[in-house]
Amino acid sequence: MPTAWLNGVFLPLEEAHVSVLDRGFLFGDGVYEVIPVYGGRLFRLAHHMKRLDNSLSGVRITNPLTHEKWEAVLNELVARNEGSDQAVYLKVTRGADKKRDHAFPDNIKPTAFAMSSPMPGARDLSKETGVTAITLPDIRWKLCNIKAITLLPNVMLRQQAVEAGSAEAILINAGYAIEGAASNLFIVKNGIVITPPNSSALLPGITRDLILELAANNAIPFREADIHEDELFDADEVWLTSSTREISPVTSIDDKPVGTGSPGPLWQRMSVLYQDYANAVRRGEAE
Ligand code: PDD
Repeated sequence: MPTAWLNGVFLPLEEAHVSVLDRGFLFGDGVYEVIPVYGGRLFRLAHHMKRLDNSLSGVRITNPLTHEKWEAVLNELVARNEGSDQAVYLKVTRGADKKRDHAFPDNIKPTAFAMSSPMPGARDLSKETGVTAITLPDIRWKLCNIKAITLLPNVMLRQQAVEAGSAEAILINAGYAIEGAASNLFIVKNGIVITPPNSSALLPGITRDLILELAANNAIPFREADIHEDELFDADEVWLTSSTREISPVTSIDDKPVGTGSPGPLWQRMSVLYQDYANAVRRGEAE
């Protein structure tokens, strides 16, 4: 049985309970992180902690733990769970009051929770055939840079994609492709890797940032620029990225093939760089 951590205590996941008055339950009033673990080591923890702080300050919740304390808790959580590759999920809600009221209660203590689930190990890139996606209108709120637990629009969008036989929904806002329902978006055009710039319209993905770092360090041309819907359909390659998905090549969008209809050469190159990086983390040589 997986082990979870709730408000300072490690316990079996099934025994972890919070109040029905928790504002996470009542209002989706909280934020979260998903952190990959490679070879038992937390991936890019400092980046995830910084984004957690940004999300918390965006919704005016005080982080109940220091970064050092989070690191200790999460490392112990990883050690108590099975498998060397895992995905840690952590969340902080505003906590539980004695009644339901939209406005913030006084003197409320945040609820802090973490659990971890197994992740498949290194992928065999030669076996990747790519995924299909559909485009849908971006029906989310205007603060998508905050990693809020309030995910009903994302849930509805992803479900529509699943029902259309696709892996992900690519969200369109005012004619521009923004990101996936739970992933960031990249296109490749004429050998240049392009992803939309960070803004309140999208989540600043940790995977996204690493890909840009890897591109810069390996002389792969890249640009942060808005992606018009027409450019999405005209791209040579399209990728979706996230902590759990890593880099997924998209081979068709709305039933139209992307590029040649197979995973492209720059996806292959970047995925090798990404896997090399994950292996360096496994060996303790990168963070
Ligand atoms: N989601 N955009 C959205 C809307 C996301 O929900 C996610 C990740 C990303 C990618 O961010 P990162 O590279 O830091 O994982 C982009 C996580 C995995 C989830 O909700 O499960």
